[in-house]
Amino acid sequence: MKIGVSGASGQLGKAIVQDLIASHAGHGVIGISRSQGNIQAPAKGRFGDYDQPASLAAAYQDLDAIVLIPSLDVVPGARAKQFVTAIDAAVEAGVKHIVLVSNAGTKDLPAPSMHVDFWVAEQHLIRAAATWTILRMNLYAEVVFREAQMLIDSGALIGLGEESAGFVAREDLAAAVAAVLVSGSHAGAIYDITGPERVTGAQKAAVIAEVTGKPLGFAVVTEDQFRAGMAHAGLPGPVVDLVVQIKKGMVGHAYDIVTGHFELITGRKPRPLRDVIAAAFS
Ligand SMILES: NC(=O)c1ccc[n+]([C@@H]2O[C@H](COP(=O)([O-])OP(=O)(O)OC[C@H]3O[C@@H](n4cnc5c(N)ncnc54)[C@H](OP(=O)(O)O)[C@@H]3O)[C@@H](O)[C@H]2O)c1
Repeated sequence: MKIGVSGASGQLGKAIVQDLIASHAGHGVIGISRSQGNIQAPAKGRFGDYDQPASLAAAYQDLDAIVLIPSLDVVPGARAKQFVTAIDAAVEAGVKHIVLVSNAGTKDLPAPSMHVDFWVAEQHLIRAAATWTILRMNLYAEVVFREAQMLIDSGALIGLGEESAGFVAREDLAAAVAAVLVSGSHAGAIYDITGPERVTGAQKAAVIAEVTGKPLGFAVVTEDQFRAGMAHAGLPGPVVDLVVQIKKGMVGHAYDIVTGHFELITGRKPRPLRDVIAAAFS
């Protein structure tokens, strides 16, 4: 098969390419991004920009399957537009199987919820493509490592209430995507790719404390306090808005999901948060 990986210059895309090459040899892998120079051999690079439809028409030629990864464009509506453009281009190019990386908790919410971008994309894919699969990603376990790095010296992780998520290792998500791409099956399925367990804010802090040997708690703060802290750390407004949305989603059960879909697709268990945190700190 000839398989396209959109976003192949990014962390998830690179992991998908590596998994395709290491675990599913014999396929042609095409990495698609705006920076072809970052596509690692033996994958071949093609230029493709979600914001330039003409570039996608060329990038998606002759592919049997493609995975579309969301960009980091956090402006409300931007990712919906990019995904619709990419889905149309893939259908037009005759790509047989379109795999969409969507987001946990996706539902029909009013803008500016980030969920609406993924909802629009999912609905468009279902309508437009003959053969499709949706993988909704939970929060990356690696994000917890970044959170730990930022906050460990303060003695507490912070949240907007009691939070919970089924954190998934990015490489596990990549393995699930790669397995679906080569499978020639999973058509019409919507999967939630999660880790093996729900982890609360306090449990997350306890895992980090145990791995690092440093005391760490979990504190609930107001939204104003949370925003002020992020602004103080120099994060731009749209990013602060996005993180607040994610934090609220963690309180509102958007990510409080654990399924057996990863094991169903790959035949093995997903990595627990502790393994990812321990490896990242080692
Ligand atoms: N679940 C979570 O916890 C979590 C956390 C962070 C991010 N995410 C989401 O998951 C996505 C993948 O994660 P990641 O870690 O791989 O992020 P990443 O390393 O920042 O990669 C993002 C990819 O998007 C591509 N991209 C950006 N704008 C594009 C455009 N206009 N057209 C085509 N490609 C474009 C980039 O490629 P080029 O710049 O080379 O084109 C890059 O390969 C992110 O973009 C974000 O939407 C999820």
